[in-house]
Amino acid sequence: MNQQEIIQKTANYVKSKLEGEGSGHDWWHILRVWNNAKHVGVAEGANMFIVEIAALLHDLEDWKFQDNDDMPLVNEWLTSNKISDEDKNHIITIIKTLSFKGVANEKTMETLDGKVVRDADRLDAIGAVGIARVFTYGGSKSRPIYNPNNKIEPNMTKEQYMHKSRNANEDGSINHFYEKLLLLKDLMLTKTGKELAEGRHKYMEEYLKQFFDEWEGKA
Ligand code: NI
Repeated sequence: MNQQEIIQKTANYVKSKLEGEGSGHDWWHILRVWNNAKHVGVAEGANMFIVEIAALLHDLEDWKFQDNDDMPLVNEWLTSNKISDEDKNHIITIIKTLSFKGVANEKTMETLDGKVVRDADRLDAIGAVGIARVFTYGGSKSRPIYNPNNKIEPNMTKEQYMHKSRNANEDGSINHFYEKLLLLKDLMLTKTGKELAEGRHKYMEEYLKQFFDEWEGKA
């Protein structure tokens, strides 16, 4: 099998695993991250095989859903498709270093390929798609869209952040813009990622302004 065929086969596999997942980490999230990764990766001159495979597999074993650092599914998939040990280790390292657990807990992404995948994933958390995802995820945890009585906590520890993400709570989804989404623009690691994030960030700022104007009955 050539690399293009392995990428397509991996896409089919991930699609079969994540189709119908309802919390915002469904197959369509993966497809968008894959598209972002191709845009950013080609512009940045990354190794597109590594980038595309890591983008496709990055949420197969998500920390929010299971505490499993061994990533048995990813491991097994890469081994059964005869990916070299070097590529396999690189892909697994990228996926493990990827996720956001609060601004205070950023892990360093060492390689260009990893930076591309992280930027691609984060781009999908902001902009018009990001707005839709915040409320979809909040809804899955029975959160109100906005609760003015709850304070915003941008500097949570990893434990606080994970606890908050996993559990139903009284925080409105709007808090999540201030605790994560509006912070992502400055955490982008590639030039292309930063450029794309700028536009999406502006769009969210305009959205929030309109949201609060409407909340107050001003608009
Ligand atoms: Ni993701």
